[in-house]
Amino acid sequence: MRQPLHSLLGTVLAAGYLPERASSVAEGVDRIFGFIFWLSAFFLALILALTVLFVARYRKRPSRTEPEPSPSQNLRLELVWSAIPLALVMVVFAVSTRTYFRMSEPEAGGPALRIQVTARRWSWWFEHPGGKGAGDLHLVAGRPTELVMVSTDVIHSLYLPDFRLKQDAVPGRFTRLAFKPILPGRFTITCAEFCGTDHSRMTAQAVVHPDQASFDAWAREGTQAAATLADVGRAIYAAKGCIACHSLDGTPRVGPTFKNLWGKEEKLADGTSVRVDEEYVRESILKPGAKVVAGFANVMPPVPLDEREMQGVAAWLQTLRDGP
Ligand code: CUA
Repeated sequence: MRQPLHSLLGTVLAAGYLPERASSVAEGVDRIFGFIFWLSAFFLALILALTVLFVARYRKRPSRTEPEPSPSQNLRLELVWSAIPLALVMVVFAVSTRTYFRMSEPEAGGPALRIQVTARRWSWWFEHPGGKGAGDLHLVAGRPTELVMVSTDVIHSLYLPDFRLKQDAVPGRFTRLAFKPILPGRFTITCAEFCGTDHSRMTAQAVVHPDQASFDAWAREGTQAAATLADVGRAIYAAKGCIACHSLDGTPRVGPTFKNLWGKEEKLADGTSVRVDEEYVRESILKPGAKVVAGFANVMPPVPLDEREMQGVAAWLQTLRDGP
């Protein structure tokens, strides 16, 4: 496949001084970076050269008389210098958007490794499938990965320079990142949003295992966490009385059943539909009246849960599906 000139240029020129590309989205990010960098460098050089030229050429001389300022406008010139930047900005927009969307949905190529990330002052916590929690992020080379993150206090930002990835963790909502690690090894994670005294020490490691077997061996070793996230969710279901209205066997009661609910396109009373994911679950727990499922009455009271309990409910709902 022939590469467009700007991307070829960007790839070549931005490659030398950046860390090795450790994820599937890194090349796209580098291309955009290189393109914007060299575009800016070109215009900087052009403007500086013209400034020097004009200063020399039109400098004040004793022999020279000042011309009268012209009151007329040059419409064509103004259109040209508006149209060229507009076209360039649209090119930047188009190439950036493609890469940005790649970071929002896991790639094809097997079930994604979904990892729950908790940011707090001043550390990271990663909960891997199977319930193993760790202060370091464990990944599998070549396996599509999705990080779903929360913050328990202030805004943090998960930054993986080798992966060319950065995403804020925001209190009160779930944020996500999708990518595929492509290089086995250990990489640095830092926090990229100033979050207080020990912001600069809020680091961790991303450990990319060469294959699934190596990841599984790591996941088995050591003692298991006292309670997995799914256990937390199951306990809330019993403790908060959700059980009275939401069945687990597929039978609708006062509210929809939880069986096979996760990931479903749910038809709402107002005629729209919504996919059941973390954000929808959070909203439905905190503001049950916001999105009422078609065929059900708006009768559920809000249930205030903290971030860990929210993560727990989301993790537990995912275990109630028949399929993957
Ligand atoms: Cu967390 Cu800066």
